[in-house]
Amino acid sequence: MPVTCYRCKAEVTGGCRCSDGITLIHGDCLEVMPELPHSSASLVVTDPMYGISMPGVSHNHMDGNGTRRLDFFPGDTLDQAMGLALAACDPRWRCYDLEASFYVWCGHSQFGPLISLFAEAGYSTRFLVWAKKCPAPAPPGSGWPSGAELCVFAYPKTGRTWTHRGKDTPKSNVLHSDSYRHGQPGKVDHPTQKPLRVIEPLIVASSRISDCVIDPFVGSGTTLVAAKNLGRRAIGIEKEEKYCEIAASRLRQGVMFGIDTESP
Ligand SMILES: C[S@@+](CC[C@H](N)C(=O)[O-])C[C@H]1O[C@@H](n2cnc3c(N)ncnc32)[C@H](O)[C@@H]1O
Ligand SMILES: [Zn+2]
Repeated sequence: MPVTCYRCKAEVTGGCRCSDGITLIHGDCLEVMPELPHSSASLVVTDPMYGISMPGVSHNHMDGNGTRRLDFFPGDTLDQAMGLALAACDPRWRCYDLEASFYVWCGHSQFGPLISLFAEAGYSTRFLVWAKKCPAPAPPGSGWPSGAELCVFAYPKTGRTWTHRGKDTPKSNVLHSDSYRHGQPGKVDHPTQKPLRVIEPLIVASSRISDCVIDPFVGSGTTLVAAKNLGRRAIGIEKEEKYCEIAASRLRQGVMFGIDTESP
């Protein structure tokens, strides 16, 4: 089945007609990726489902500052999310370049299996942490509110791209940024929108201008916006049309919130 770009409607054969080089595909990544040309992308930056949605649940922030719904995604169970993340991030997909590096944001229970997946495929692995100013609210009595998220960084033992530059990239594997709250500039209607501040440095460090970044779980399009801001090409895949629409809308805007301008 031919794969088309949600934005320009052109068939995706080594790119589409979008002049900014950002291709957005509406579909299931496991069905779309086999249709993409070999070595389509040399960097994977993604944020799969964590399996932490709680149907019908919402609760108050500890500081009493509003409520947060926790039924983010339908059918987002731990088992389903684990299988999906491991399947989509397998470096043996042909659309990933042989020298591609991977950044996979994940829940704590996905961390070990992802490390094993990459190690078994012969990749070196490390990790990053996003330290939040304000932890996500936790249901009463459930334990420590989560003030951090984990990211698996995997790269081939030879040939990886590493362009880390002090000026634009954090000095360590701990990235500091607040999470988005309703009403903040740049916040869109997606339950797990990542700040550009925790995505852009990964692209700066592990790709060059015009390289192609892929995100199989695009959500509100943060990876695509970051790639566009930084002059990279990108391919994003998103299953839900409403989120494709949000990502497309963000891409229509200029470079608004980047490493230096987004509120911390
Ligand atoms: C954690 S969110 C990504 C959030 C994103 N990083 C952002 O900043 O907006 C995961 C996204 O993957 C999408 N998704 C779930 N299963 C998918 C699949 N099989 N193929 C493509 N997208 C999928 C969900 O609809 C959701 O928007
Ligand atoms: Zn296009």
